[in-house]
Amino acid sequence: MTQTTFTPRAFSGIKPSGGLTLGNYLGAIKRWVAMQDDGMETVYCVVDMHAITVWQDPAELRDATREVAAGMLASGIDPARSILFNQARVAEHAELAWIFNCVARVGWMNRMTQFKDKAGKNAEKASLGLYAYPALMAADILLYHGTHVPVGEDQKQHVELTRDIAAKFNHDYKVDFFPLTEPVIEGPGMRVMNLRDGSKKMSKSGDSDMERINMLDDADTIAKKFRKARTDPEPLPEAPADLADRPEAKNLIDIYAALADTGAEAVLAEFGGEGWGRFKPALADLAVDKLAPISTEMRRLLDDPAEIDRTLAAGADRARAIAAPVLARTYDIVGLLRD
Ligand code: TRP
Repeated sequence: MTQTTFTPRAFSGIKPSGGLTLGNYLGAIKRWVAMQDDGMETVYCVVDMHAITVWQDPAELRDATREVAAGMLASGIDPARSILFNQARVAEHAELAWIFNCVARVGWMNRMTQFKDKAGKNAEKASLGLYAYPALMAADILLYHGTHVPVGEDQKQHVELTRDIAAKFNHDYKVDFFPLTEPVIEGPGMRVMNLRDGSKKMSKSGDSDMERINMLDDADTIAKKFRKARTDPEPLPEAPADLADRPEAKNLIDIYAALADTGAEAVLAEFGGEGWGRFKPALADLAVDKLAPISTEMRRLLDDPAEIDRTLAAGADRARAIAAPVLARTYDIVGLLRD
């Protein structure tokens, strides 16, 4: 079967399971802003229905959903050029996810490493939603016939599963309906790690606030967190290759490089041989410099939650205009009667 050509369209999402972090900004949003100018349609979603795969306090979920949206807007996601909305406003996501639950195989889900990591030894107590989450993610992407999915390395397996679901659907129903999506994996240096443990991703839901930079942290807090960030006793090396076994050092240098829009090479040309006592304050200053305009704008937006809600609702209308016909056609293909 030949593959239909689909219009290039990017889709990505951030879970509002807590406030927005520097990791979300450098690892995702900054790149999404750039993709707006790459000549393809861009659809960006606050994936609130993914957040509830682990329990969320309802008031905190509402706040986090608006905070993530405010962070995207303040960083330069333009609701006129991109479609920006929250997932729950477009019911088609849940509806297509159900169909994909019936396409995906239990054996496939059992191979998802993120579920194993998150559920840990307590898999029996994890929600069924957490287990099925990759089918909802596939629905998010395929409802828009998304062809490009900018995500971190940790989501690659889910995008591959999306391809498997699309391929099996097309095969089982003898159609050429869903595209086989490409993950657009972030380049090196874009994955921001935990400030206390360089082997873990910086996460908005980790236990200690000291392990992450929140987009709404003030200058003093940012300086304190970088000052206390874990490092090793060695000075900064002269070349990026010497960072291979130094995850915490590498992380701080990568953060600096990403904030300065340069590479680790250039950062080490400036700071190689120096101690952390000089580098950490420079990093904090740079971070405050880059983040202050964004956090100021975020606070301004968050002062008027009704306006954020109107923006998300308008984005949801545009999203639905794409998603509804795709879902309707899917129902027809599957043989589900509808009006
Ligand atoms: N699972 C993604 C994460 O945890 C978030 C997400 C949900 C997503 N749906 C998506 C990312 C669709 C890309 C495309 O980061």
